[in-house]
Amino acid sequence: MGRPYLEAARDLGFEVHVVETEVWAGEVPEGVRVHRVAGLGQDGWAVDELWAVGGYAVAAGEGVDGVLAFSEPHVLGAAVVADRLGLPGPSLHASTLSRNKALQRGCFAANGLPQPSFHVVAGHDRAVEWAADRLPVVVKPFSSFGSTGVQLVSDVDELREVLAARRTERLLVEQAVEGPEFSWEGFTRDGEILFGNVTAKETTGPPRFVEVAHRAGHRFDDPATERAVRELAEGVVRAAGIRTGLVHLEFRLTASGPAIMEVAVRTPGDFLLDLLAATYRFDPYRAAVQLAMGETPDLPASAGPVSYAAAWFPICPPGTVVETSGLDEVRAHPMVVRADLAVKVGDVVAPLRSSDQRAGYVLIDAPSPEEREQTLKTVRELLLVTTAPAEA
Ligand SMILES: Nc1ncnc2c1ncn2[C@@H]1O[C@H](COP(=O)(O)OP(=O)(O)O)[C@@H](O)[C@H]1O
Ligand SMILES: [Mg+2]
Repeated sequence: MGRPYLEAARDLGFEVHVVETEVWAGEVPEGVRVHRVAGLGQDGWAVDELWAVGGYAVAAGEGVDGVLAFSEPHVLGAAVVADRLGLPGPSLHASTLSRNKALQRGCFAANGLPQPSFHVVAGHDRAVEWAADRLPVVVKPFSSFGSTGVQLVSDVDELREVLAARRTERLLVEQAVEGPEFSWEGFTRDGEILFGNVTAKETTGPPRFVEVAHRAGHRFDDPATERAVRELAEGVVRAAGIRTGLVHLEFRLTASGPAIMEVAVRTPGDFLLDLLAATYRFDPYRAAVQLAMGETPDLPASAGPVSYAAAWFPICPPGTVVETSGLDEVRAHPMVVRADLAVKVGDVVAPLRSSDQRAGYVLIDAPSPEEREQTLKTVRELLLVTTAPAEA
């Protein structure tokens, strides 16, 4: 995920220092200074403070003109460094919210933005009482991602069990809202929105809501919804105090309008930036680096899509993989940009709980929405992962 930023930064003529895990440090190209942080390996990857340790160390030793976070656990570390050095960035406030869904809910509620009603768990009895006449509810951790730990709960007994089983976690309980899911990706500078895109999503649905497809450059049929979504994005940028950089806002379109799922000031996952690059024919990585460096970003010439990109993630039932097929045919399809499988015959696939358990990906770029749909349909029929129930 970091590589295209690295390429953009070097292409723009900047000297680059990266903070990296031991595991990935070997992948960093020559000429780039790598700062390893002890413990930032497989186990420490999701510990925000370890990334901050690296960020502070680079900032103390070198003349730093800009700092860029791309993955979720980098956000806070980059923000404290940027704040301390007075460098451009999303803001310390927005970055703190980005890593904490309870703070987001509190901030957005106070600003009158549309979102599900919520309860910060501090005592199981109170949480159950709150949820009793709001079922079904969604239980989620303050600070995770990729749908990890997000769980739909339909009755109070189950809620009690879930809360008891997850007593060591800091949790939110929210009313479950219904409606199709979308995200809004935007670039902002000093709190002003410079660019925005809507992505339509498909998920596995309840109880785990893992994302399975994205279509970029989405347009809503009715102008009222189009306006409501723009106002939502503006409201979130204002309320969260987002200054400069990339914004990823997720929402559902309910019967009464959009409702915020969450906002993050970082690179959206699932190849969304690659979908934007194809849809608007620009380099979003370059724009992000330019913004982080206080430069004017090179943004798309027109606000509308010029191509129709999508990502699809095959999933398979839990069990042992007995066969995979269709990858070569899918790769040979003229509208498929990239495709790969993450599983091979013999792998044991656990029940799907988070995005990183999906079986692969296919990226599509089509000249029209119709051809995009047709290609999605074709690859879904072609690319198959067959599993047999795993032995006990
Ligand atoms: N209050 C809610 N009502 C309905 N669905 C929800 C709610 N909260 C989360 N979800 C579903 O769970 C998914 C993951 O939740 P989210 O808050 O975005 O966590 P993560 O950071 O893991 O992506 C959402 O995209 C949505 O499908
Ligand atoms: Mg999410």
